[in-house]
Amino acid sequence: MLEKLLKESTYTVIYTGAGMSTESGLPDFRSSQTGLWEQKDPAQVASTEALNRDVETFFQFYRERVLGVKDCEPHEGYQILAKWEKEGLIQSIITQNVDGFHAEAGSKNIMELHGTLQKVHCQTCKKEYGSEMYEQEHFYCECGGKLRPSVILFGESLPEEPFMKAAEESEKADLFIVIGSSLTVTPANQFPLIAKECGAKLVIINLEPTHFDHHADIVIHDQKAGQVLKELDEEIFK
Ligand code: APR
Repeated sequence: MLEKLLKESTYTVIYTGAGMSTESGLPDFRSSQTGLWEQKDPAQVASTEALNRDVETFFQFYRERVLGVKDCEPHEGYQILAKWEKEGLIQSIITQNVDGFHAEAGSKNIMELHGTLQKVHCQTCKKEYGSEMYEQEHFYCECGGKLRPSVILFGESLPEEPFMKAAEESEKADLFIVIGSSLTVTPANQFPLIAKECGAKLVIINLEPTHFDHHADIVIHDQKAGQVLKELDEEIFK
């Protein structure tokens, strides 16, 4: 069924969350036991308030995540999505992830709703640096300001450009596939609904149920993202 939808659709948009990177070795946020927010309160480590009130904890939390991304790499599912874009099977990827794995695997048309861990910038003068500054524990700008990852912190609004583009892509989609997201964070979780309301078929591939499952045409809970993508790819390109 999903293979048929993929082949027949003319404008397929993929929407990914942290569940797309667990098979690369990066923890997600809300899986029971292993999710990052199961161990830490995001307000204490991933918010503008934490950056201002408890900057050492903030620096160490994000340095660990920067090192984690450097130690891991995009799994085969990422390569498959990049191939599908080249083959014209999918048109774009909206991602909540900040690991940069879609670009690293070769995808081109990507909207990073929550920014990226690949860069840091000065909270004061906005100067940008590579995330190796955090690797090397350089947490301050030449101007003396604090360096913070170029991710969207809790309490900050989403970057205008990817957000607007994601809305356009969601309206254009005739097939919208969610992969590895609990769909619990607004406004990022609105895009599957926009796509559905504009007539797209909605597919949710996620190990746990989501609150949006009842809107979906197909729901896959019993297979990991990498496995679903691999089997689909083998079917379509056999
Ligand atoms: N295959 C399929 N689903 C998976 C896999 C996998 N291999 N691994 C985990 N999952 C599912 C989990 O069951 C979970 O429901 O992926 C989902 C990930 O959900 P979250 O951890 O909430 O991640 P996400 O939806 O991306 O979070 C959104 O929250 O904290 C913010 O900014 C952060 O971008 C993040 C946002």
